[in-house]
Amino acid sequence: MTQLADKKILLGITGSISAYKAADWVRALRKEGGTVTVVMTESATKFISPLTMAALSGNRVYHHMFKDDEPEKIPHINLAREHDLNLIAPATAQTIGRLAHGLTDDLLSAIILASSAPTVVCPAMNSKMYLHPATQTNIATLKTYGYHLVDPDNGTMACGEEGPGRLTEWPVARQTILKVLAKQDLAGESILITAGPTREPFDPVRFLSNRSSGKMGYALAEAASQRGARVTLVSGPTTLPAPAGVELIAITSAQQMHREVMARVGEMSVVIKAAAVSDYRPASTYDHKVKKGQPSLQFELIANPDILKELGQDKKNSGCVTPLLVGFAAESQNHLEEGSRKLREKNLDMIVINDIGGANTGFEVDTNRVTMIDRNNGREELPLLSKEETAHRILDRLLQLMEGKR
Ligand code: C5P
Repeated sequence: MTQLADKKILLGITGSISAYKAADWVRALRKEGGTVTVVMTESATKFISPLTMAALSGNRVYHHMFKDDEPEKIPHINLAREHDLNLIAPATAQTIGRLAHGLTDDLLSAIILASSAPTVVCPAMNSKMYLHPATQTNIATLKTYGYHLVDPDNGTMACGEEGPGRLTEWPVARQTILKVLAKQDLAGESILITAGPTREPFDPVRFLSNRSSGKMGYALAEAASQRGARVTLVSGPTTLPAPAGVELIAITSAQQMHREVMARVGEMSVVIKAAAVSDYRPASTYDHKVKKGQPSLQFELIANPDILKELGQDKKNSGCVTPLLVGFAAESQNHLEEGSRKLREKNLDMIVINDIGGANTGFEVDTNRVTMIDRNNGREELPLLSKEETAHRILDRLLQLMEGKR
């Protein structure tokens, strides 16, 4: 289960050609344990049938202001009270205009006006309509009311025109929803996270590296940002998109990572080192591509700076309690003993240990199974979870440690 588990979402669907995409969003929300009630504008019912949405949501679909069968109930007031979040997707220029002006001539806009739950709006319309000053002014007005707007994508529209106006993709909307729903328990914290592998070149085209995908570090950055922290992500090369709202510092080598971390550590309350930093680098590099032909090649490797150890040493020497230092230990044998040794040797507050020998844990996969050990010998073993859930559990534990420090 994820952060969406047990959340009650009211999904407002309005009359855009992309209304059919909302069907998949309902399935995605339910798959993560959310409950979905769909409210449609009358024009939305022309694009996708209420029956489809009822079947997919497992709930009655509302699209009339007045219910003939239960006249004593006022649907817009009841529906406005019952939800943790309102999601309007797709949101047409018409619905955005209604909301911006407080007009309530249909059920959906009446519910939103009467609701005190946060509202996420995902506009979708022809790009000229989207870029029109009237729509842009209405969107700006919604932002001043505290609505959360998710920008539409650029591309070719159903009408054949190019430009901004395509309904955003689900993963982007999902991130906004998670951020809006998340408890802001890391607000005020500045967290530096490192992620991914480093690359240690020996000629212009080749390098020494490792299998790290960066997924665990990026999941931590995403989760910490959702929970209100100011996050700086110092990342080696990965194929992952930069998490929204996170400052991304792209580096390649361990020495570059060392420089970027050291330049920023003074402003941080927490440093989480999830990167798989290369312990060694070639002692010298060739200016040109090394030609094949020799029966063997010998390289001398020299040690890279151990960034985390240096941070732990600096902390010990200064006697400061911050930043809180969290390390990772990817081990293929004696993982708990090795992790505990690193916790002490590097003067860490917490270490997250993963046994990379297990199935579906460690490098490249989307799941992980970790054990956390803290400086007070507190120990917590997590089951096999998605890296997203693992990230939240690590942050929960970190918060407990921070509470102990205050
Ligand atoms: O000692 P080992 O490299 O296994 O420790 C792993 C932890 O130390 C990770 O948190 C990793 O990011 C960090 N590390 C580092 N600098 C290095 C090597 C590892 O900060 N050169």
